[in-house]
Amino acid sequence: MSKSERPVRVLGLEASCDETAAAVLDGQGRIMAEAVLSQEAEHARFGGVVPEIAARAHLAALPGLAARVLDKAGLGYGDLTAVAGTAGPGLIGGLIVGSGFAKGVAIARGIPFFAINHLEGHALTARIPGLLDQPPPAFPYLLLLLSGGHCQCVAVEGVGRYRRLGTTLDDAVGEAFDKAAKMLGLPWPGGPHLERLAAQGDASVVALPRPLLGRQGCDFSWSGLKTAVAQRVAKGDARAEDIAAGFQAAVAAVLADRAAHALAMFPAATAVVVAGGVAANGAVRAALARAAAARGVPMLAPPLRLCTDNAVMIAWAAVERLHAGLPADSLGHAPRPRWPLEELLSGLAPI
Ligand code: KG4
Ligand code: ZN
Repeated sequence: MSKSERPVRVLGLEASCDETAAAVLDGQGRIMAEAVLSQEAEHARFGGVVPEIAARAHLAALPGLAARVLDKAGLGYGDLTAVAGTAGPGLIGGLIVGSGFAKGVAIARGIPFFAINHLEGHALTARIPGLLDQPPPAFPYLLLLLSGGHCQCVAVEGVGRYRRLGTTLDDAVGEAFDKAAKMLGLPWPGGPHLERLAAQGDASVVALPRPLLGRQGCDFSWSGLKTAVAQRVAKGDARAEDIAAGFQAAVAAVLADRAAHALAMFPAATAVVVAGGVAANGAVRAALARAAAARGVPMLAPPLRLCTDNAVMIAWAAVERLHAGLPADSLGHAPRPRWPLEELLSGLAPI
């Protein structure tokens, strides 16, 4: 069989933050194998991701993880038809490890290399066939990316065609959760712990500010809310459960308001897709679902393991690019710690 007739098998690699991940997808987006190694334990005692520790851990883990995933898929490197690595945005050490490894595979096997923008991976995940219990979203749709590193509203108009409608003026929403949780004495990363604590509290006891609520546009700001939590904790007159519940209610209300504004700015959107670790939060999901329903569109969220950082989304972005007839990348493509989605297509050229 000639090379061009071989079935599509794409290896995806992700190492842009604190998850090392590998996955193999076929041309229809069927997940043949996937694995994610979290470095949470390595960073927990520092209360956040330490870039140098992350880079070294990626370097140690990636070759073994890629081999394991190929093995699980019943494939060898020689069966791959393309390889995709996250090339930005993210921590430069991990980006070099992940995209460098991908380039090495591409050179060794003579197959195309795709330099994938991490945000594009999140943006397209919900389109993997069979992933949702309803049909995958068609373009255009609104993406809300709510993670520890990102907090953005993105108009997803097609493969490679994205417009950022709004972003955070200070912290990412996951970061705000983590900082509020820390003030309440919870371990890092604090989002899930804070949600559990909030379940035992009463959101109406501690009134907290709702930054930018009702304000034009769909930017976010969390610093005022964070300061208010710090002041309330320092005052010592409220139960931690009630502060947690008040914080979570404020975040959910702001997110719903910002989503409503984003939908008004982007009336063509056929759905609201949420991604990122904060999409795991029940109160946030419920508030966003209500905001979407108010405009008559569904809210869709990939399964949690694919909402958070993973390599399935990286391989899938390459499959989408193959289907869209978009070119592979030059082996000279340099990883980009900052890589806005709007610059994606210009980023296809070597820089
Ligand atoms: O997408 P993600 O796994 O990693 C990146 O940041 O790239 O997101 C992690 C963030 C952390 O800030 C974590 O605290 C938050 O998502 N998170 C949550 C919940 N689960 C994870 N925040 C609120 N409620 C949760 N249940
Ligand atoms: Zn991410």
